[in-house]
Amino acid sequence: MKLYIGIDLGTSAAKLLLMDTQGTVLNVVTKEYPLEFPQPGWSQQNPEDWRKAVMEGVPELLAGFDAAAVAGIGCGGQMHGLVILDETDRVIRPAILWNDGRTAKQVDYLNEEIGRKQLSRWTANIAFAGFTAPKILWIRENEPENFQKIAKIMLPKDYINYILTGVHACDYSDASGMLLLDVEHKCWNREMLELCGVTEHQMPGLYESFDCIGTVKPEVAEKLGICADVKVAAGAGDNAAAAVGTGVVGEGGCNISLGTSGTVFISSRKFGVDPNNALHAFAHADGGWHLMGCMLSAASCNKWLCEDILKTKDYAGEQAPITGDKLGRNHVFFLPYLMGERSPINDTNARGTFIGMTMDTSRSDLVQAVLEGVAFAIRDSIEVAKSLGIPIQTSRICGGGARSELWKTIMANVLNLELECLETEQGPGMGGAMLAMVACGEFADVASVCDRFVRVASRVKPQKELAERYDAKYQQFRKIYPACRDLFRQMQA
Ligand code: XUL
Repeated sequence: MKLYIGIDLGTSAAKLLLMDTQGTVLNVVTKEYPLEFPQPGWSQQNPEDWRKAVMEGVPELLAGFDAAAVAGIGCGGQMHGLVILDETDRVIRPAILWNDGRTAKQVDYLNEEIGRKQLSRWTANIAFAGFTAPKILWIRENEPENFQKIAKIMLPKDYINYILTGVHACDYSDASGMLLLDVEHKCWNREMLELCGVTEHQMPGLYESFDCIGTVKPEVAEKLGICADVKVAAGAGDNAAAAVGTGVVGEGGCNISLGTSGTVFISSRKFGVDPNNALHAFAHADGGWHLMGCMLSAASCNKWLCEDILKTKDYAGEQAPITGDKLGRNHVFFLPYLMGERSPINDTNARGTFIGMTMDTSRSDLVQAVLEGVAFAIRDSIEVAKSLGIPIQTSRICGGGARSELWKTIMANVLNLELECLETEQGPGMGGAMLAMVACGEFADVASVCDRFVRVASRVKPQKELAERYDAKYQQFRKIYPACRDLFRQMQA
C-alpha cells in the first residue's frame, strides 16, 4: 500500500505523520524548534531550524516502514511568515512570524492612507500586523540592505517545499494571508506588489493546495531515504489544512482550532467578504474559500501560565480542581492578548490582563480564567460571523487545547455550540497528507478524501443553564478590553 507524509510546520514544532491510503496514521514524529522574541511583541524563527526538523524528522518517521512506498508529501504550515532568500538561495534574515506585532506603523499606513476599502477591493482583506505585506514594508524601511538582496519571497511551508523540490511555489490558501493576493480571482494583485516595491518575478508561482508542484530532488530524496519520484503537493496554510483534516470543506462547515493561535474557520463554496473585514476572507484548500477569525494566543496562553509562570507541564493536574460546580462562576477574567490581538479587535498594543482577583483567588481560578478568556475571545469571532448572518449550529474542534475535556466543555458552553471531536485528530499534518493523496491521484478531490477518512467520534453539547451563566460572564468580558484600550496604547507609547 502507498504511504503519504503529512507535515504540520507549526510555531513550536514540526509534526510529521505517516499515513496509508486507508487513512490509518502509522507514525508521528515531533521535532521542536526555538521561537525568538527579540523585543516585546516581536516573534521570529530561523527557517534553517524548520529545514533541519524536516530533514531529520522524515528518516525517523520512516524507520521500520517501507520508505519505498512513500508516494507523496503535503505540508500545512504556519501562515503569513515572511521568508526572504537572496539570489544564491540563502535565507537573508530570520523569518518574521504570523504573531509578530512590529509592523503597527506599516499597518496604519496601509489601512489609513491606502485605505481599508481599497485594500479590501484589491485583496479581500485589510492589513493586520501579522500579514506578510506590512512585513515587506517594514524590511524596506528598517533593513534596506536586506530589502535590496531579496530574490525570492515565500511563506514558511513554501520554504520546505522549495528545499524538497527546488520549485518556488505557493498555494492560494496560504497566499491569501500575504495581503498581496487578489483572493477572489486567485492571482497576485499588481497594485499591492508595486506598493510593497516587489515584482511578480520575486513571488512564488500559484497553485491549488491539491496540485502537485513537482517531485523531490534526487539529492534530497537520498538524504530522506525516499524515492526521487515522490510528489509534493502545494499544501496549505495550517488552518486550511486542519480544516481538510477535520472534514470542514464545501459549504458552511465550521472548525475551531485551539493551537498556539485560536481560529474559527468557516468554509464556503462561494467567495465572500466580511464588509467590516473583521474576519479574513481567504481561499480554501479544497478549491473554494473561507472566512476566518484568528486570535494570536490561544493554547499558548495556557502553556505560558503553566510552563513559564507556574513552572509545570502537568496541565491535567492544574485543571483537576476546576470541577463542574466552578464553571460559569469564576470571578477572575483574563484578556488573552499576550501577543497583541488580531481578530476581531486588530490591536498590536493590547496585552494579557488578569482582572477581578480577591484575597481568596486561587491558583486554579487563574488557570480557569485563562481557559475561559480564550473561549470568550473565540466567541468574539463567532459573534462577528453571526452578525453576518452565518448560521453556526455545530463546529468541529481540533488542536492541542482540544485534548482537554474541561476546555472543550467550557468552549461548548461559552459558544453555546455543539462541538464535534474526531476519531483521528492530527490537525494540519493529516490535512497535508490528504492533500498529497489528491495531488497523486489517489482521490478525485478533497471532498472525497474527507468523506472517506473523517469520522466524528464524540460530541460535547452545551448545557442550557451553564451556557446561560457563561453568557452573562461573556457580557462582562466584552466590556473589559474597551475599558483598557486607551491605557494599552499609552503603555506602549
Ligand atoms: C492564521 C494565523 C495562525 C497561524 C498559526 O491567520 O496567523 O493561525 O497560521 O500557525
